[in-house]
Amino acid sequence: MARHRLPRLLLLPVTLTILILLFLSSSTPPPPPQPPIPCGAAPSDATAGRWVPTPSPPPPPLYTQSCPFHRNAWNCLRNGRPPVAALSWAPSRCGGAVVPRLDPAAFLAAARGRRIGLVGDSLSENLVVALLCALRSGDGGARKWKRRGAWRGGYFPREDVVVAYHRAVLLAKYTWQPVENSKPQSDGIKGTYRVDVDIPADDWANITKFYDVLIFNTGHWWGPDKFPKETPLVFYRGGKPIEPPLGIFDGLKVVLRSMGSYIEREVPSKTLKLWRTQSPRHFDGGEWDHNGSCVSDRLLEENELDSWFDPRFGGVNKEARLVNSAIWEALVGTDIQLLNLTYMSEFRADAHPAIWLGKKDAVAVWGQDCMHWCLPGVPDTWVDILAVRILHYFKQGKG
Ligand SMILES: *[C@@H]1O[C@H](CO)[C@@H](O)[C@H](O)[C@H]1NC(C)=O
Ligand SMILES: *[C@@H]1O[C@H](CO)[C@@H](O)[C@H](O)[C@H]1NC(C)=O
Ligand SMILES: *[C@@H]1O[C@H](CO)[C@@H](O)[C@H](O)[C@H]1NC(C)=O
Repeated sequence: MARHRLPRLLLLPVTLTILILLFLSSSTPPPPPQPPIPCGAAPSDATAGRWVPTPSPPPPPLYTQSCPFHRNAWNCLRNGRPPVAALSWAPSRCGGAVVPRLDPAAFLAAARGRRIGLVGDSLSENLVVALLCALRSGDGGARKWKRRGAWRGGYFPREDVVVAYHRAVLLAKYTWQPVENSKPQSDGIKGTYRVDVDIPADDWANITKFYDVLIFNTGHWWGPDKFPKETPLVFYRGGKPIEPPLGIFDGLKVVLRSMGSYIEREVPSKTLKLWRTQSPRHFDGGEWDHNGSCVSDRLLEENELDSWFDPRFGGVNKEARLVNSAIWEALVGTDIQLLNLTYMSEFRADAHPAIWLGKKDAVAVWGQDCMHWCLPGVPDTWVDILAVRILHYFKQGKG
């Protein structure tokens, strides 16, 4: 009996092994290991964290007031403003570490042969100036590049990289239509801006396949400052006026959805598609044309943010969060990723050009600038976050 039982006992482990092998081969293979997400590259890194003094020794500034890509109105140092405090963004996820400062030469090398495009209003331009000035320190041969309808841009010959900005403040195409002088208007309308919600502005309509990374924004023009009652926006779809006519905020929602689906359709799937959320303004004590001021070197505290920005409190800076909710609604479910820089920027009441605009009378005419940002300044941190996100995308073998 014992002689018979022994082989059967030996068979048991063999059978088990075969069964396990069969089971393993029928289940799907494990996914290849993903590289860990570096600090700054996770979408939540921008939306949860705090500003801390830049760890010492602070890295040397990547550019100065003489950067050839600079724009005078944002060149606060040249315009006499004291330097903005040296602060870094410490995402909650990073265990006390801060988003590292961009390494321009390494970034250019990793982006070799690639093209990065920004499309939108002057807040996209604010970001691109910071990016161009920073990258220039990694390639002294950098030169201006303005092809394919770009408004501003740079070419970095060492690694054959293009970075450019296409100005399209509403993203959709819009055209001025004056009322004829012969017909005096009782309602005081001087003319209208026709917005074709389903047609992208010429400035970027043809570049959807040119870039490897595209970053969009719109939002800062959608208000009565830019389009008052006498020169309103009128929305068209399929060449016909939308009936009943849309108010400006509903028009924004329609344009966001329609440009979002244009981008999904026309931009190749391997292109990294980002949408930058609204940049918060910091007018204190009144609107820009009512002596609103941001001559300040104090950051806002976390518990002050809602009173400044929550639309329920009706403050003068409420538009950022309002526009953001429209952006979120329009883009959820698309392959466009949000680059949510609003929250981290809400703290930075200390970092706008304010009265240091570089032009005599600018403040008397335009009020303080509490909307754009000094450079160097907050957009450098946007650049750091953007860069680490782009590099992570490339490293995953995408784009
Ligand atoms: C951006 O992040 C903030 C902070 O986490 C959040 O409250 C807000 O809803 C986010 N906005 C969008 C459009 O996702
Ligand atoms: C886009 O390119 C096409 C083909 O080259 C051209 O016919 C068209 O005029 C261009 N459109 C714009 C807005 O530049
Ligand atoms: C702005 O301040 C100046 C000087 O204090 C004052 O004369 C002017 O009336 C104020 N303007 C507005 C719109 O409040």
